[in-house]
Amino acid sequence: MANPQVVTVESLPQEWRELLDAATRAREKAYAPYSRFPVGAAVRAASGRVFAGSNIENAAFGLTVCAERVAIWKAISEGERRLAALAVVTDTGTMPCGSCLQVMTEFATEDMPILIADPQGRAWLTTLREILPYPFPHTSIQK
Ligand code: THU
Repeated sequence: MANPQVVTVESLPQEWRELLDAATRAREKAYAPYSRFPVGAAVRAASGRVFAGSNIENAAFGLTVCAERVAIWKAISEGERRLAALAVVTDTGTMPCGSCLQVMTEFATEDMPILIADPQGRAWLTTLREILPYPFPHTSIQK
């Protein structure tokens, strides 16, 4: 794994705890009968508003949408254009998938902080840059 910083939830600023609570609540609404891997995510837009989402699966498995993208699409479809922070809660504290990282790249700067947590309260703080160091289209091999 990269180098995410281990953090204790109690020591996080109130804004982070709010975002984490929103992600935790969203995870309870996950529709994941196929994988049985519920995911909750919450984004704080630059305006300060919070948008939460869960993963939504489908019997045609490829139609499944990740929690992160549900939260981001809720924000964007409500008029937001810049994302300031993201929290994700999964059973095992997993990182966002590559597709979600690319979607984040569209609407966030590379220093956007991302908090990964599990339901036991273990948490890790990282950034978009740390988990997607060479984003398209901002990285080119040419000088
Ligand atoms: N999933 C997410 O919601 N976010 C991720 O970043 C990775 C995977 C969901 C998709 C699917 O419903 C389940 O987790 C198992 O892959």
